Amino acid sequence: MKEREKEIIRQIPAPLLLWYRANKRKLPWRDDPTPYHIWLSEIMLQQTRVEAVKEYYTRFINALPTIEDLANCKEEELLKLWEGLGYYSRVRNLQRTAKTLVLEFNGELPSDITLLKKLSGIGEYTAGAIASIAFGKRTSAVDGNVLRVITRLTENPTPISDTAYKKELQETLSSVYPNEGKDCADFTQSIFELGALVCKPQTPDCGNCPLKDICQSYQKGTQKKYPVIPPKKEKRIEQVFVFLLQTPNGFAIRRREQGVLKGMNEFPSKVVFDETPKSVLNEWGVYEFTELKRKNYVHIFTHIRWNITCFWVYTDEVPFDTYDLDEIKESISIPTAFRQCMELINEKV
Ligand code: ADE
Repeated sequence: MKEREKEIIRQIPAPLLLWYRANKRKLPWRDDPTPYHIWLSEIMLQQTRVEAVKEYYTRFINALPTIEDLANCKEEELLKLWEGLGYYSRVRNLQRTAKTLVLEFNGELPSDITLLKKLSGIGEYTAGAIASIAFGKRTSAVDGNVLRVITRLTENPTPISDTAYKKELQETLSSVYPNEGKDCADFTQSIFELGALVCKPQTPDCGNCPLKDICQSYQKGTQKKYPVIPPKKEKRIEQVFVFLLQTPNGFAIRRREQGVLKGMNEFPSKVVFDETPKSVLNEWGVYEFTELKRKNYVHIFTHIRWNITCFWVYTDEVPFDTYDLDEIKESISIPTAFRQCMELINEKV
């Protein structure tokens, strides 16, 4: 990173803190920013938009108000609280860490960044966010928002996948943090906030930006060139059959033993090549059945695209556990990839 860029970064805190205090959004985790609250919100926010997280966050904290409650929660209840948020390893790591905290840290998060990074699911970014927002430490947290804001301010052309740049930025930004305490908490959040409200990906609102006087890309009109995003890898495409297998005792559900979403519940499914719905059902020992309806869906994972055909099928018996529709809706967690198939049942014929 050039000295000129560091000089720009040094000029960020003062105007940005003033702007943040006048413009920050009211968000549920900001009402009572305990380490637990900040930790949970940052994990939820990792792959999910603020608007979507708000409701999940509030429901989760109401159900599990302490780290100890999280440590002791039954897996099925935990997954139900996370249902629809995706990236379920996040919630498994959350509970693993809660258990460690209860056993080794008196049920509390440590404030030390090195200790934080040793905990499951807490990497460089999350450790920086918790240490600064919850404990007022001088540690930055570099996420996509921060990279966008800074590469625009400095017209830095490094692709944002470059880990050396990210590390250097993390260190440089940490070195310009204000004094320990509330200012550090606010400074971390002020960059997120600028990225969300002003320095937006497609439509930056530069007229209202508190940093426009120091922003290189604003002055040159090159905002859209930054950040430099490396080309995305193509996703593998899979054809998947999902079966809403209805029996007199309810609908079939089983646990996924392998592949994507391993360990989660599903309506019985199969990745197919030249199979037919009949051949798959036969494999499961289902010979007599009536197809009621079918529908196609697409579900996108990080590395895979699923082209799903969902079949609603009636049969007398299945080699899987079965559950009432009400029970499925209320207390069984099913990832969105499968859950969306329930639309078939709810639609008018
Ligand atoms: N994005 C990631 N962390 C955030 C936070 N604490 N507030 C707003 N947006 C965020």
